[in-house]
Amino acid sequence: MNQRAVVTGGAGFLGSHLCDALLAEGWKVVVVDNLLTGRRSNIAHLAHEPRFEFVEKDICEPFDVGKVDYVFHFACPASPVDYGTHGVETLKVGSLGTFHALDVARKYGAKYFISSTSECYGDPLEHPQKETYWGHVNPIGPRSVYDEAKRFSEAVTMAYRRYYKVDTRIVRIFNTYGPRMQLNDGRVVPNFMKQAIRGEDLTVYGDGSQTRSFCYVSDEIDGFMRLSRSDEALPVNIGNPDEFTILECAKIVLKVVGSKSQIRYEPLPQDDPKQRQPDISKARQLLGWEPKIALETGLRLSLDYFKKAVAEEVVTTR
Ligand SMILES: NC(=O)c1ccc[n+]([C@@H]2O[C@H](COP(=O)([O-])OP(=O)(O)OC[C@H]3O[C@@H](n4cnc5c(N)ncnc54)[C@H](O)[C@@H]3O)[C@@H](O)[C@H]2O)c1
Repeated sequence: MNQRAVVTGGAGFLGSHLCDALLAEGWKVVVVDNLLTGRRSNIAHLAHEPRFEFVEKDICEPFDVGKVDYVFHFACPASPVDYGTHGVETLKVGSLGTFHALDVARKYGAKYFISSTSECYGDPLEHPQKETYWGHVNPIGPRSVYDEAKRFSEAVTMAYRRYYKVDTRIVRIFNTYGPRMQLNDGRVVPNFMKQAIRGEDLTVYGDGSQTRSFCYVSDEIDGFMRLSRSDEALPVNIGNPDEFTILECAKIVLKVVGSKSQIRYEPLPQDDPKQRQPDISKARQLLGWEPKIALETGLRLSLDYFKKAVAEEVVTTR
C-alpha cells in the first residue's frame, strides 16, 4: 500500500495512537500539529520511521502537505482544562482549522474523517445518547467554546459533503483513556490515577453519583479505523457503554493502584453533565464494532504509563 494520510493533531493523545494504527496498516503518515496541547514525546517513537513525517504548524492558517489520500482531522484542545485555558484557540481550530482540513481533502480528492465528541449532546435529556439526538447545549457557558466549536465543525463537514462532494465521516468520541493522556488535563481517569499513585485524596465533584462511560484507547482506535473504511457519512458514536458513577470509578482506581487514599468531595462545576453514555447500536450494526476492554483491565494496562508520568511530571515537559 502506498496511501498517504495527514493527521491534524497527531502529536496529541488520540492522534498519536491513530498514527500508530495507520502505520501498522501500511500508510504513509504526515502529522500537522502546533503542539498547543500535544507533545513531541507522543510521537518520539516514530522519529526513525521512514513513512512518518511531522510538520509543526497551526492549522488555523491554511496548510498543504502535498498529495494525500485521507485527511484525519484531530486537532483541537480536548480536555476541560485545555479548552478552559485555550477557549479562543478552541473555537478557531474548530472553525478555521476545520475549513482548512476540509480544503486539503477537497483539493486532493481525499477522504475526510473528523473527530467530534459526545459534548455535542451537552447535558443530555436523552439517555443513553443516540446519534439522532440533537443535544442540550448551553451556547454561552464555560464549556461552549468546545461544544459549539465541535457542533460547528460537524456542520462545516456536512456542508463540504453537500456542496463540494467531499467524502466525509464524523465520529462522536466518548471519554477515552489510556497511555499518553496528559496527567493534569482535568479528566477523571488521569486525576484519580495521579492522586491514587501519589497517595493523595481522590477529588470527587458533587456527590459522585454523576455517571460516565470510559473507553480504552485501543478499542476507540479500532472503531476509528473501521469507520474510516466505511461509507457512513452521518455521525457514529464510538465509546464504551458500560456506565459507572464517578464514585465507582474512584473505587476501581484505588483497587488497581493498590492505594489507601481517601475520597474528598468538592462542589460540582457549572454545566458538568450528570450522565453520559453512548448508544452504540449503530457502530455495532454498521461496523461490527464494540469495545472489548473493561474499565479495570484498561486501568491496569495504563498503570505503568501513569506511574512513569507521575514520576516525570509529564505535564511540565511539553
Ligand atoms: N480524548 C477524548 O476522550 C476525546 C473525547 C471526545 C473527542 N475527542 C476529540 O479527539 C481529538 C483529539 O483529542 P485528544 O484527547 O487526543 O486531545 P489532545 O489535546 O491530546 O490532542 C489534540 C492535538 O491537537 C493539536 N492542536 C490543537 N490546536 C491546533 C492547531 N490550531 N493546529 C495544529 N494542531 C493543533 C494539539 O497540539 C494536540 O496535539 C480532538 O478533536 C477532541 O475534540 C477526544
